[in-house]
Amino acid sequence: MKIDIDYALAMAAGIGSHGLSDAELHAETQAVERAVRRVLEEVGAGRLGFWSLPSDTTLCAKVKRAGEALTRDVTDVLVLGIGGSSLGGRALCQALTGPAELPAFSKRPRLHFVDNSDPWLLAALLETIDPKTMAVIAISKSGGTVETAAQLMILREHLRARVGAEAAKSRLLVITDPSKGALRALAAQEGLASLEVPPNVGGRFSALTAVGLLPAWIAGADIEGLLRGALAMSERCAKPTMSENPAAVIATLACLHHRLRQRPLHVMMPYADALRPFAAWYVQLWAESLGKRVNRRGQVVETGPTPLPAIGATDQHAQVQLFMEGPRDKLITFVRVKHATRDVIVPKAEGEFAYLSGVSLNALLDAEREGTTQALAQDGRPSLTVTLDALDAEHVGGLVFLYEAATAIAGELYAIDAFDQPGVEEGKRLAFGLLGREGFASAGDAVRSAVSTRPVRYRV
Ligand code: PA5
Repeated sequence: MKIDIDYALAMAAGIGSHGLSDAELHAETQAVERAVRRVLEEVGAGRLGFWSLPSDTTLCAKVKRAGEALTRDVTDVLVLGIGGSSLGGRALCQALTGPAELPAFSKRPRLHFVDNSDPWLLAALLETIDPKTMAVIAISKSGGTVETAAQLMILREHLRARVGAEAAKSRLLVITDPSKGALRALAAQEGLASLEVPPNVGGRFSALTAVGLLPAWIAGADIEGLLRGALAMSERCAKPTMSENPAAVIATLACLHHRLRQRPLHVMMPYADALRPFAAWYVQLWAESLGKRVNRRGQVVETGPTPLPAIGATDQHAQVQLFMEGPRDKLITFVRVKHATRDVIVPKAEGEFAYLSGVSLNALLDAEREGTTQALAQDGRPSLTVTLDALDAEHVGGLVFLYEAATAIAGELYAIDAFDQPGVEEGKRLAFGLLGREGFASAGDAVRSAVSTRPVRYRV
């Protein structure tokens, strides 16, 4: 597994004074070493479970056993879950298997990630998939997430009504905390198959638990390879010095470009369609972990970078205009796959298109990435490039771990708690009130009253 980071174009040596100087990077040495040490202490104390997942030697066997039992004679698997209970699995599946909608890639059961309470997708799936060949995986670390709970109740009833209670039971599997929460209680009460999210692994850090590995295995990915790649990366990310630690490099550049150069927008732009969901996964990981009101001392800081997903070359025709000429508030990460698995060659072309004769689409994509990187650099707009030698399980496992570790280290550098998400609670509480959930009546009243007193003169 070979993953390199080239950050010359985030530095003054590459882009002049818009980049960071060696002295500025050097001044951060002790803080970065302290941050890595703090993260490893947390790992040692058993609080950051994601770090130890790759060395769990029993995980893959458990996932495969459960997957085999669930998917016998199954054509379609609905994966219910939201946020960290969906994005990681989706990222692994798309990175490692071909376009799932094509027949040649659907020898395995098709996976459908249902992550929203908008019924647009779910209604269509219920209308079109034969319930006799459907299975459902419900994923919720806490076990109480409203979107997932509502979908599970719908699917349980849908299957019971069409295939009978016993068959329905064999087609449902839950992934949740080993002992806590309503989903665990339901699994125990109804005798549903289940897998665990370790208590010390947060939702958005759970891609390499059963949460991501089960969908990935069903889609045909090499899940042992994923963990091997992650393990190799975890060793690199434990190195105390920045020059040897790729996660520390990512975290430090992000924080310093934010703090010293006022660049709070962090763009993740893979030049690979297979990594589109990876960019979405990164957005959640970076935003929910680093966007916080208070720092570790309890002081109000209202800090955090804003991650933006983009895709090369598609976004060269959409967002790159902004990246090139808009505010100088962005640090862009390009992700490049050196040896693609497939290629298509342009046949002999004539006239104005003659220059394309014999050009491979991978070469075209790479030239576009290089061109965009250089054009940005010429105008002093910083970027770093993460290169994966290949897009296989080991590299994808390594990439996922790299960004999880970078997030943990960035949390230390921003001096915030990267593992909580208090900011999402208030909105949930108010929605429960509107839904009439017991104990939330006053929250519902408060929303209704606020809505009714919004000044109408601002409506058109
Ligand atoms: O990272 C997180 O903790 C969140 O994004 C959760 O994954 C998300 O809210 C879903 O929570 P749960 O898995 O408990 O249903």
